[in-house]
Amino acid sequence: MKHQFDELDARAAKALEGGGPDRIAAQHKKGKLTARERVGLLLDEGSFHELGQLVTHRSVNFGLEEQKFLGDGVITGYGTIDGRMVYVFSQDFTVLGGSLAEAHAQKICRIMDLAMQNGAPVIGLNDSGGARIQEGVVSLGGYADIFYRNVRASGVVPQISAILGPCAGGAVYSPALTDFVLMTEGTSYMFVTGPNVVKTVTHEEVSSEDLGGAVTHASKSGVAHFTASNELESIKQLRQLVGYLPSNCEEEPPVHPYTSSDESRPELDTIMPEDPNKPYDIRHVMNAVIDPDSSLEVHAEYARNMVVGFARVAGRTVGCVANQPSVLAGVLDIDASIKAARFVRFCDAFNIPLVVFVDVPGFLPGTDQEWRGIITHGAKLLYAFSEATVPRITVITRKAYGGAYDVMNSKHIGCDMNFAWPTAEIAVMGAKGAAEIIFKKEIDKAKDREAQLKEKEAEYRQQFANPYEAAARGYVDEVIRPSQTREKVIAALDMLRNKVEKLPRKKHGNIPL
Ligand code: HXC
Repeated sequence: MKHQFDELDARAAKALEGGGPDRIAAQHKKGKLTARERVGLLLDEGSFHELGQLVTHRSVNFGLEEQKFLGDGVITGYGTIDGRMVYVFSQDFTVLGGSLAEAHAQKICRIMDLAMQNGAPVIGLNDSGGARIQEGVVSLGGYADIFYRNVRASGVVPQISAILGPCAGGAVYSPALTDFVLMTEGTSYMFVTGPNVVKTVTHEEVSSEDLGGAVTHASKSGVAHFTASNELESIKQLRQLVGYLPSNCEEEPPVHPYTSSDESRPELDTIMPEDPNKPYDIRHVMNAVIDPDSSLEVHAEYARNMVVGFARVAGRTVGCVANQPSVLAGVLDIDASIKAARFVRFCDAFNIPLVVFVDVPGFLPGTDQEWRGIITHGAKLLYAFSEATVPRITVITRKAYGGAYDVMNSKHIGCDMNFAWPTAEIAVMGAKGAAEIIFKKEIDKAKDREAQLKEKEAEYRQQFANPYEAAARGYVDEVIRPSQTREKVIAALDMLRNKVEKLPRKKHGNIPL
């Protein structure tokens, strides 16, 4: 039997060589790790079980029969992150540029099917030249097989894509269909058409990095949810992200140990500026309410007037959504609405309670926003909150004006518990704007126009720019001191732990896409 074992060992050793030492050296020279090194860092030590290590392509086109590599340019299998099962594929750029064709795609589909059957996340480490040109249409078929599974798996198991090299052409659509995209700065890029095609068609001169690098997608397009300066950092982010998530839509997220202590946060009583038009950083409020150092901001550089991210409260995962008064006064615009809506839907799909912080002066006015469809895009956020059945808590710290009050997880659209600080201003609009409209005649007639406006503004503020009118109608459950916020949120999450809410039976809703 020895020779049979030797053959097995020889084949396994061959598979570990990837595209050979020269191509591996070239990969390292670019500041990139190999596909196997990445898997080794991502998963708990010794937990990886490889599937399909000996798979090869079956093509005889353009001399491919002479270029067979065991594994066909992608490493697939399963293993654990902090002891919890995940399924992984890792494209090997050293083998035919990590290009995807029939066998490569079949391997990815296999682990996606296993992940669905067994209810665990799928993590894709992408580093590929795209469709394997020599294999032709089977490559396109392979991509479509993956896209189809991405969609079927959406909302069933978390799907996460790290882009660690090229990702171009139709290949971008698999990551785009997954829940989160991570990119590394300087070594990864994503675009539908590269700089050469762009130059030919639109005459624009642009580098790969500017067109579709990590910074571009994190700040301009919103395609990337996380960026990292190198792969080690990216893989650390991946592990951290998985730690917040349940394995599938039937499970609750993992719980961290937590011992109750003094939950009051006196620093919040002095956080609000005296002047209601002065900005402050909502992240300081959130950080005081969540468990210390428990947050992971999502889309940190995109639509910064809205902050979204995961955190833990009393050891349990929550999704935080907050207007950011220090950027554009926290106004709701198209990008902020889309960013928050997608995050809310993810949390709802995976049983993650929502904690929402509101300080919003309204929707952003202007032709740019209107012509680009703020109506449709703002409606996405309204839709996402309204259909969410997870526990939903709102804290109104200051402004909650107009339609934005309704949209930001108000009681009327199904928030379970809401709190307002005494500094809250729940009104149709700001006092000045309101006074200018409803007291226009008196103000115009007055000898001292400014003084009259100020007086009327104060009158309006006195009556409406506070939380009590809303509290009197039961639109707010409790007006609280800011320092009580953490204890109140913990208590509300506890109270809502067994919440059951079912949507009316339907095939699916029709979110305004
Ligand atoms: C086959 C490929 C390949 C591909 C790269 N290689 N891309 N082989 N099919 N798509 C091979 C190269 O021939 C080379 O082989 C090795 O991978 C490394 O490539 P290099 O060019 O030397 O690397 P680099 O200089 O880093 O450039 C990387 C690259 C470039 C920018 C990705 O390789 C490139 O432009 N590739 C073609 C990209 C492309 O047009 N893909 C099709 C997109 S259309 P050797 O043997 O020399 O090491 C698409 C449609 C999908 O993907 C549709 C889905 C619906």
